[in-house]
Amino acid sequence: MRILIATSEAVPFAKTGGLADVATGLARSLGDLGHEVTLVLPYHRRFVPAEIPVEETGTSVSIRMDERDVSAEIWRARLANTPVDVLLIDQPAYFDRGGLYTESGVDYGDNCERYAFFSRAVMEAARKLELSPDVIHANDWQTGLIPALLEAKYRQTPTFSKTASIITVHNLAFQGRFPGWCMKYTGLDWKYFNWLQMEFWGDLNLLKTGIVFAQKVTTVSPTYAREICQPEFGCGLDTVLASRSEDLVGILNGVDTSEWNPSVDRHIPQRYSAGSWKAGKAACKRELQRESGLPERPDVPLFGMISRLTDQKGLDLIADVADDFLRNDVQIAFLGTGEAHCEQLVRSLALRAPDKVSAVIGFDEQLAHRIEAGADIYLMPSRFEPCGLNQQYSMAYGTIPIVHAVGGLADSVVDASGPNLMHGRATGFVFHDYAAGPFAGKIRESLRLYDARPTRQSVVEAGMKRDCSWERSAAEYLDVYRGALEKLPD
Ligand code: ADP
Ligand code: GLC
Repeated sequence: MRILIATSEAVPFAKTGGLADVATGLARSLGDLGHEVTLVLPYHRRFVPAEIPVEETGTSVSIRMDERDVSAEIWRARLANTPVDVLLIDQPAYFDRGGLYTESGVDYGDNCERYAFFSRAVMEAARKLELSPDVIHANDWQTGLIPALLEAKYRQTPTFSKTASIITVHNLAFQGRFPGWCMKYTGLDWKYFNWLQMEFWGDLNLLKTGIVFAQKVTTVSPTYAREICQPEFGCGLDTVLASRSEDLVGILNGVDTSEWNPSVDRHIPQRYSAGSWKAGKAACKRELQRESGLPERPDVPLFGMISRLTDQKGLDLIADVADDFLRNDVQIAFLGTGEAHCEQLVRSLALRAPDKVSAVIGFDEQLAHRIEAGADIYLMPSRFEPCGLNQQYSMAYGTIPIVHAVGGLADSVVDASGPNLMHGRATGFVFHDYAAGPFAGKIRESLRLYDARPTRQSVVEAGMKRDCSWERSAAEYLDVYRGALEKLPD
């Protein structure tokens, strides 16, 4: 199958969160399965590592944006060790900036224009390069316009007459909602600006647009697929999603094991595997304590947390349990960046207990790997979590996650209680009510497990042996692609 994946970020070209890992992991896996995959993303020149070879295609596109023509050069790269082609849309005024979507915590004021341009450039690039994809796979609001462009503008051109589109919702909290007058950037007729299509309470909503026009809609875990059809998690789009429930599929993200795998990880001080992890993990813990400025004590339980610092990630629960938590003989290494009040919370914990808490405020891919490898226990008390990757990375690295039972957290972690423990199925701790009490309860349980070595070993090893490969998820995406193609009129 010929598959074009359009995304605003992909490792190693640009990353702010899990979407980047997922776009690359899925593309790699589909490529390995023999499909012809093209990944398209904006060319964020400052974020592409210098050692990655990038070449000009000699093709450019020009898009009429409101009253001016904006052009972009198309560059080509290769996803390392794969047959996957990467196209980079080079429009420096839009994309060669200090951040992807925000700078100093503030959204760029022209985000609608930037991503409407990107979506239109993807279609134009595919047309000019005659890619003739069977499926275009859009991701999140940044590419939500693509399914609409396909139906409203490109369906009649030979390159796209048999192309289906799907959109994956990675996070419903971000919808790309802009004032109605931004329709002028979409290149689409105002007739589409109605409540059944692109309009949402008077605004333009790019994620809704994608959900309405795509042949199939996916999201990143089966539980989140159910949750978002309910008002509590639907962020106002629950009825739109429920109306597409026959075409809505939840597929749990896999783990890109060429990147996140303790037996090959180039960022950690000592590699290890499920069969022999104790010495390697102990060395990683020692190094993490050293580089974090925490006392180098092998026996103290070391917690880790790596996160976009936003309310989604449960920082309020961390604040609520902090006093109790810090009364224990524990350590914690935080890595994150995001909203000022969350950053402030993490910083203040480190100031209060410098021998127990280390806080790195910033984005550091390599440190993220070292925390996953060096910590004993991982905190992920997210208020909601479409899928979540760090709990999966934690299990793969023998680091026991404590998670809230929502979305992909509920679908990936098996609670260390009763029969799960007895049958060796437990991989972490899962609390159900989003409140400090239940979260603190699971932290206490994790400390008891830490002292109960044989049981701890069984939980660590069950997590490390868990099947988290992309292959299974990629096969599910292929089913969705086929289903999307079947929906096209003959
Ligand atoms: P989300 O996409 O909602 O942020 P995920 O758990 O799906 O959450 O993925 C987060 C990804 O971003 C992981 O690969 C994680 O390691 C990475 N990450 C988040 N914050 C940072 C940071 N400050 N530094 C380095 N990596 C980070
Ligand atoms: C989003 C979600 C996260 C998910 C990631 C990749 O950022 O918040 O839960 O893992 O997308 O799908």
